[in-house]
Amino acid sequence: MPTDSTIEPALRYEKNGALAWIIVDNASRLNALTAAMWQALPRHIAMAVADPDVRVVILRGAGDKAFSAGADISEFESARTGDAAATYDALNDAAFSALISCPKPVIAMIHGFCLGGGLGLALCCDMRIADDASQFAIPAAKLGIGYNPRWIRPILAAVPPSRAKELLYTGRRFRSAEAEAMGLVSRLVPTADLEDATRALAGEIAANAPLSVAAAKRVIDEIARHPETPDMAALDAAVAACFASDDYAEGRRAFLDKRKPLFKGR
Ligand code: COA
Repeated sequence: MPTDSTIEPALRYEKNGALAWIIVDNASRLNALTAAMWQALPRHIAMAVADPDVRVVILRGAGDKAFSAGADISEFESARTGDAAATYDALNDAAFSALISCPKPVIAMIHGFCLGGGLGLALCCDMRIADDASQFAIPAAKLGIGYNPRWIRPILAAVPPSRAKELLYTGRRFRSAEAEAMGLVSRLVPTADLEDATRALAGEIAANAPLSVAAAKRVIDEIARHPETPDMAALDAAVAACFASDDYAEGRRAFLDKRKPLFKGR
């Protein structure tokens, strides 16, 4: 059996029915994210999007200590200094963008440490379900890192500016209850229930009509990002596609037949 230190850090992809799990696996470093992992994330998201069976994507950390303690600082000397810093940030940014633009729902299942780039990842997901042992921080100022301006919007989508400032100015760790109160976390559950609660939430979404869920995601994200000038034509088209779908006919039939609908995503 390999020991933790002999296992390559990796971003793993596992499909289980309608759920695709993306697992941050760097156990000996509290699931710190390596440059190779940032690079792999857009490929994993593309795989989940292309697979018609996948209805929900779940991001989690391996083991029981951390979702992720952030970018892997041991790589910074070689990969995130001087000119390389911009290249590193572009890789990181492409990973965040892939998550934000994923048309399927994405849930972050957070246990233990959720720090720096780990919290950045979680904030690019649609929902964050966390255990009561989780801790959250953006320690950039403790390392002398300038936090990329592109990554501020997801923070501000979750918490007000004064809280975003507290996170970034202090770099301190917030415990789960405080994180929930400020809006970083959408739902908090006891550690023992985290996986079941996440599966239940994902299963509830996966049983619904995929076009309706995708339209809701698109509409909410577009209006949140461009409150004054949303692309209403595109949003109306997404809603019209639901009304024209076989799934809408199935939903109506199943209701009248008093049975569960079987949606196909078309
Ligand atoms: N990058 C690289 N390695 C990391 C890491 C990171 N972001 N976070 C933790 N590790 C490593 C530690 O160096 C340590 O390795 P070692 O056993 O070879 O010494 C191992 O993970 C366990 O961490 P340790 O610090 O011993 O655990 P702890 O429980 O005492 O403290 C933290 C946990 C999360 C508070 C602490 O590890 C920490 O502050 N990590 C850095 C968090 C951070 O700044 N993230 C933002 C990066 S931009």
